[in-house]
Amino acid sequence: MLNIQEEAMKLNKNNIIIGAILALIIALPLIYNISVLVAKGPEPFLEKPKGEKCIMDTEEIRYNHMILLKETRNQAMREGKKVDIGLKNCRGCHSNRKGFCDRCHDKVNLKPDCFSCHYYPNE
Ligand code: HEC
Ligand code: HEC
Ligand code: HEC
Repeated sequence: MLNIQEEAMKLNKNNIIIGAILALIIALPLIYNISVLVAKGPEPFLEKPKGEKCIMDTEEIRYNHMILLKETRNQAMREGKKVDIGLKNCRGCHSNRKGFCDRCHDKVNLKPDCFSCHYYPNE
């Protein structure tokens, strides 16, 4: 009688150990994926620009780049001035429109018509 009980307990113990090992094997890929994600952090929203800093402070260019571009455009087109700032400048540091400009514009469903005339790669 005692023997059977001991055997049963041994079996139970073995089952628990096998169960724990199986659970670990199943969980391993998940643990691995999570640790990789944690190590990498979230993907940045905007592609990293070239260069140290923008032509304006980050905050300022973020909110005012459209005004700036339209202003220099007007100066060039209406007043015939020679301007230093145009889309080709932006292109020099933010080389991929899709990974930078379009990321924000898509979010606000904005499709500036500039790029039908001004070359700005988008891949
Ligand atoms: C000399 C390189 C350079 C040029 C030229 C340049 N940028 Fe930048 N730009 C940067 C860098 C570097 C940052 C990131 C600064 C930071 O992270 O604080 C940036 C940031 C920005 C941001 C803000 C992104 C954010 O985090 O919200 C916008 C918008 C932007 N640039 C638009 C433009 C536009 C439009 C032009 C052209 C008129 C332009 N940039 C020209 C290098 C440049
Ligand atoms: C941080 C987000 C962000 C980034 C990065 C960004 N833009 Fe914008 N852009 C906006 C928003 C938001 C508007 C719309 C503002 C409004 O309508 O008041 C806008 C508007 C514009 C406009 C005016 C379009 C129109 O028809 O009125 C131009 C031109 C423009 N962006 C060019 C660029 C270029 C070129 C780049 C990349 C070098 C760029 N933007 C990067 C957020 C961004
Ligand atoms: C119908 C075609 C067309 C469209 C659309 C257009 N442009 Fe232009 N843009 C031109 C031409 C042509 C010039 C003169 C080019 C030159 O002088 O080298 C010019 C000049 C400019 C200039 C003067 C500096 C430079 O780069 O030559 C700026 C800045 C400019 N455009 C910005 C914009 C912006 C921002 C948009 C969108 C909101 C836009 N353009 C839309 C055709 C266009």
